[in-house]
Amino acid sequence: MAEKSWDVVVCGDCGRRVSRSSQFLTVSEILRVRKSMRLLHRILRIVCLQCCFWIGVPLFVAAASGGESVKFTGGVVAADHPAASAAGARILREGGNVVDAAVATSFALSVVRPASCGIGGGGFMVIWDADRREARALDYRERAPALATADRYGDAADAGFPEPRSVRGGLASGIPGTVAGLCYASKMWGRLPLRQVLQPAIELCESGVLIDAHDREVQSGTLAKLQKRPEYRRHYALLLKLYLNDGKPWQQGDRFYSPQGPVLKRVAESGAAGFYEGPVAAAIAAAVAEAGGVLTADDLQGYQPTVRTPLQAEFRSATVFTMPPPSSGGIALLQTLQSLECWERRSGSTLQSLQHNSADYVHVVTEAFKHAFADRAEFLGDADYVSVPVRRLLSSDYAEQRAATFRMDRTLEAASYGRFFLKDDAGTSHFSVLDAAGNGVACTETINLTFGSFVVVPEWGILLNNEMDDFSANPGKPNAFGLLQSAANAVQPGKRPLSSMTPTLLVRDGRAVRAVGASGGPRIISATVQNLLNQELWGMTPAAAVAAARFHHQWAPNELLLEADLKNRAGKELEGRGHQVQQSGGLAATQGAARNTDGMLQGGSDPRKSGQPAGFDLEK
Ligand code: DON
Repeated sequence: MAEKSWDVVVCGDCGRRVSRSSQFLTVSEILRVRKSMRLLHRILRIVCLQCCFWIGVPLFVAAASGGESVKFTGGVVAADHPAASAAGARILREGGNVVDAAVATSFALSVVRPASCGIGGGGFMVIWDADRREARALDYRERAPALATADRYGDAADAGFPEPRSVRGGLASGIPGTVAGLCYASKMWGRLPLRQVLQPAIELCESGVLIDAHDREVQSGTLAKLQKRPEYRRHYALLLKLYLNDGKPWQQGDRFYSPQGPVLKRVAESGAAGFYEGPVAAAIAAAVAEAGGVLTADDLQGYQPTVRTPLQAEFRSATVFTMPPPSSGGIALLQTLQSLECWERRSGSTLQSLQHNSADYVHVVTEAFKHAFADRAEFLGDADYVSVPVRRLLSSDYAEQRAATFRMDRTLEAASYGRFFLKDDAGTSHFSVLDAAGNGVACTETINLTFGSFVVVPEWGILLNNEMDDFSANPGKPNAFGLLQSAANAVQPGKRPLSSMTPTLLVRDGRAVRAVGASGGPRIISATVQNLLNQELWGMTPAAAVAAARFHHQWAPNELLLEADLKNRAGKELEGRGHQVQQSGGLAATQGAARNTDGMLQGGSDPRKSGQPAGFDLEK
């Protein structure tokens, strides 16, 4: 089909216009143009490297190099891909506010981290408006299609399928919310036109983006999965072709050319209608139907994001603003912080008196996690559909009760955690933005597992989420993240699946001073807590806070996951206290940004996902 596409093809490294056409291009035409660009890029790369070596001019002036804590005076963006951070920083420099920067970063992530998030998925954004001294939460989580009833999922429905129907294929996808959410945020709270804010993402489609270590890891994992199930290569041939280099392992220096340019261009011109109406909506519905799903064009047309009041609590002379249900992460994060403060009071000790990541520290924080995750399993779901006892879960009495159970010498039986024990009763991306004026955005977005449902819309290259697996689609059985969940999170038409995404801001004296969050399923919650504590308690820079070794416990399964450093350091002692210790590879990927007391802004992007922050300085 001959749909509208870009008319100028730009090289991302040098900004050079490579071709111009007044014709609208199709996806396959674009792919042809890109093939020839690859050769040109190889030649240009050699020339550019030579120039940089001899002239000594860095290509990206404002980007902070991985791990370093570069300081900025104007604004900072920490995403899990350097080009996405740079997209947000560019929009700040062009006069955009933090919401414009967040929208630009998110659309760029859709292009450069397609396995993690994107326009086929959903997300949450927490915003601090320093002028109005007001916090907002925007919920653009996917919703279950009108025909997605519980009986379509679970053991009986899954019989004969290689993976649960909530995980792969058409039934796995919820109604995508990202485009609606970003367009809404841009219109209500942004300063620049949507077209300008989308420009960096469109340019990244045109120029392609250099493959990094994370892309190579994701490709080899997904190819191994496709290899194991030969029918997948047929069903998900487009995923293979458009997102996995046709099955050929990515090489150093290769570039990925996203097929999403035409649809991004439509959104730049027509806003959310460019996605939720007309040929794009029709093509999404047809692709889902072909893959056995029930998401319709009416579902898409009816999708609206929801503005919510963030959860709020005091923590060490600051106010924490975080995401309410359908996120479980906000409640779990606040419960964890509350339990830790109560433990400090009751024990007459402080967390800082325990060494960072010592066995004592890991043990105490783990006890707090276990309570929070036990409550998550039992009570949480979409509060627009089920009753979630938020006030009770966050009451100070309940926090005291939880902290009263902590013992330093041992962990407890699973049944001792959570559950109001008072008598009467896997593909995501997080980024953080701060500006000089005190505004902030914490935003986490997802298509759920790596490459979501594997279903790609042929005409537009849109990769659809598999968020339906975040419901308790198979009652009594853990989901892909091993999470046990209750009837509160059962599949129901229109409902949003429970999420662990935990975008969180810390506000002090009217200014956002920290913006944190993570990707990694339930590990999002533990990684976000540790990122925050590493900065607040242990005085780490955002770069150090995101890089430090991490631990995770989600109550069920009953295992304490420790990254290798931590296992070597504290594993034996923790086993001695009854923890079932397992060594784990990288636990989640977390990003953070901070405002120092001198007003300088710093960002940290997790080295586990090859990210890198970027920012800009105000002119003197
Ligand atoms: O919303 C959630 O909790 C999940 N869909 C998040 C999945 C995730 O973080 C995958 N990993 N990187």
